[in-house]
Amino acid sequence: LREHEEFTKVKNIATIELGRYEIETWYFSPFPPEYNDSLQLYFCEFCLTFMKRKEQLQRHMVSFASIFVYLALLSPIQIVRKCDLKHPPGDEIYRSGTLSMFEIDGKKNKVYGQNLCYLAKLFLDHKTLYYDVDLFLFYVLCECDDRGCHMVGYFSKEKHSEESYNLACILTLPPYQRKGYGKFLIAFSYELSKKEGKVGTPERPLSDLGLLSYRGYWTRVLLDILKKHKGNISIKELSDMTAIKAEDILNTLQGLELIQYRKGQHVICADPKVLDRHLKAAGRGGLEVDVCKLIWTPYK
Ligand code: ACO
Ligand code: ZN
Repeated sequence: LREHEEFTKVKNIATIELGRYEIETWYFSPFPPEYNDSLQLYFCEFCLTFMKRKEQLQRHMVSFASIFVYLALLSPIQIVRKCDLKHPPGDEIYRSGTLSMFEIDGKKNKVYGQNLCYLAKLFLDHKTLYYDVDLFLFYVLCECDDRGCHMVGYFSKEKHSEESYNLACILTLPPYQRKGYGKFLIAFSYELSKKEGKVGTPERPLSDLGLLSYRGYWTRVLLDILKKHKGNISIKELSDMTAIKAEDILNTLQGLELIQYRKGQHVICADPKVLDRHLKAAGRGGLEVDVCKLIWTPYK
């Protein structure tokens, strides 16, 4: 059985088509067996339905206006479910310029949630696929234009987390990586935590790229506060201000050698020159979340 499992974990789908992009995949994803013989899959960029053939996708994307033409021309046997979406299902909870964020409840949009998980697993190692999407909310970031809202990336979040996780999985689709969207998604997850009045932390383990992105985010947020702040500040206060879990703050500041242990207590030592040096090394800030544009109430 183990041998069989190992065998089936070999990367199956080599490329996917999604919107304007053909994307090379990174890892195995457990698509249903009927897709096992496909090297390429075609995703509808709006509802994330995946198909084996390009013609199926083309028929799926046909707008309602042209359906009548199709009905007249095609044999009636060829029934393909048409797509009437131009953005992810669910509620638009954030819009700033051309960027929008949609919140999708896995219970209300089960198929969408499952499709998103299949897609995401192609780029996420060491994560098990959640079949139980009911328990999650999905936050999908889109770049919008006159053709619709095109998915850039997303993160998922448990509706109720015992471990104070505020993010389960995060992904920026490869064509959009290294443009600051990852840091935007991370910042967004902490803005939701602030609205909930809770501290949060990402689910472990983190991938290498995940850790790099989080470390970058934590470093910048904490250094910005330390730079502006006059007088002493405790880790608890930093945590209250940022919704970052105390442990992550301690680890980040220790990594920057800004923590000293005096008389049985951790003390933050923030020499302005040292802060400036770290800030320069921390790189670009990424895209800002404009909190005024977030219209959201916590899940009940
Ligand atoms: N090489 C080196 N550093 C990188 C790279 C890379 N390829 N990609 C990101 N980084 C680092 C950089 O420090 C970067 O900041 P900088 O550009 O200012 O130097 C920082 O991470 C974040 O960059 P962003 O552009 O904001 O992030 P991006 O949109 O690329 O998304 C993400 C980051 C989500 C981790 C993306 O790499 C991804 O989707 N990876 C595949 C899935 C994954 O590993 N997800 C995390 C799993 S852990 C979890 O889900 C809890
Ligand atoms: Zn569709």
